[in-house]
Amino acid sequence: MAPTQPPLDTLVPPYIRKIEAYVPSKPDDVLRSMYHTSSLVRMNNNENVIGPPQKSIEAIMNFTPERAAIYPNGDSYHLRHRLSEVFRHPACSFLIGNGANEVITFVIKTFCQKGDNIITTDKTFAVYEWAAGFSGVEARLVPLKDHAFDEEAMIGAIDGRTKVIFICNPNNPTGTYWSEARLRSFLRRVDGRQIVVVDEAYAEFVDQPDYPEGMNLISEFPNLVVFRTFSKMYGLAALRIGYLAGNRNLVDIIRRTCIVYSVNTLAQEAALGALADDGSHIRRTRELVRASKEFLISELDRMNLPWIAGEGNFVVIRLPVSDTLVYRRLMAKGYMVRTMTGFRFPNHIRVTLHDLPVMEGFVQALRSSIA
Ligand SMILES: Cc1ncc(COP(=O)(O)O)c(C=O)c1O
Repeated sequence: MAPTQPPLDTLVPPYIRKIEAYVPSKPDDVLRSMYHTSSLVRMNNNENVIGPPQKSIEAIMNFTPERAAIYPNGDSYHLRHRLSEVFRHPACSFLIGNGANEVITFVIKTFCQKGDNIITTDKTFAVYEWAAGFSGVEARLVPLKDHAFDEEAMIGAIDGRTKVIFICNPNNPTGTYWSEARLRSFLRRVDGRQIVVVDEAYAEFVDQPDYPEGMNLISEFPNLVVFRTFSKMYGLAALRIGYLAGNRNLVDIIRRTCIVYSVNTLAQEAALGALADDGSHIRRTRELVRASKEFLISELDRMNLPWIAGEGNFVVIRLPVSDTLVYRRLMAKGYMVRTMTGFRFPNHIRVTLHDLPVMEGFVQALRSSIA
């Protein structure tokens, strides 16, 4: 007799039943054969095309395979102590996760229960909304204003069940950012009643005098949590390592939701290497991003294609035709971009900036894909 099927409609909570699972892109070899292309440039995930800094590369090369048998340090001790020196906060103010994605779930698990809500915007990094959704928590999505987070509308959306407010600074995908004055004024208005998360995944790309390092504000605002990642500027996306920082009391509570050993040894050591870089990696990357952005934007203007670009290593492009159609045409030419219709930007694509020779090839491919 066949085993009885579990009663999924009674076992699975309604908020999980209504979720559609995220479908990740297929591996490069599968995509190359699907689209009959011998090469594939990934321009869909805002990775650093330069790769990791030299000292991270050395850390990875020095990792001897026997060490794979040993569990990693359970709370990234050395990395937290190094972050403590870099940012001058106690080591217990830092909590390391398997990418910034994991620390998003820590925060929601810590503060939200059924009936609570989080606030963010409708056009930002989607994981805040998804993590709320699979936790049974309402995500209130306040529209952007002039492509930026709208503090007035966000304050207006707060009610007695609002627990966390997520601000992506600079915003993925629009590249806008709040200045220090704007962030401080928002934090003063929230006045400690909710947790305010400032996601600084792209902070190291920003070279603007009024850009606030949230890290400098955590002693002053005990409800502030800052996210950082080693996936973007530091080119360690495959190793999955990111972190949050906040007031020690707050981080002590958030730590209760962590599952130990989610951050592997190689990632911890490569991240330590990244922090030992003398600044040349950031300078080189910023220069590449600046030159590619300038080139792409001037080409888009020549093609009469509207674009959205600010801080960060990406540009959003509005297309005169369907984004999925252009995606397929670009894939056949060896360029993979992010379609944005599913992220509430109908018929837009987001493109990660590469070096100039790649961008030149991409522009040619784009021109023929919209013709
Ligand atoms: C704004 C933002 N936050 C967080 C993340 C997640 O980063 P990680 O790779 O560390 O999980 C991303 C990745 O795209 C991002 O764009």
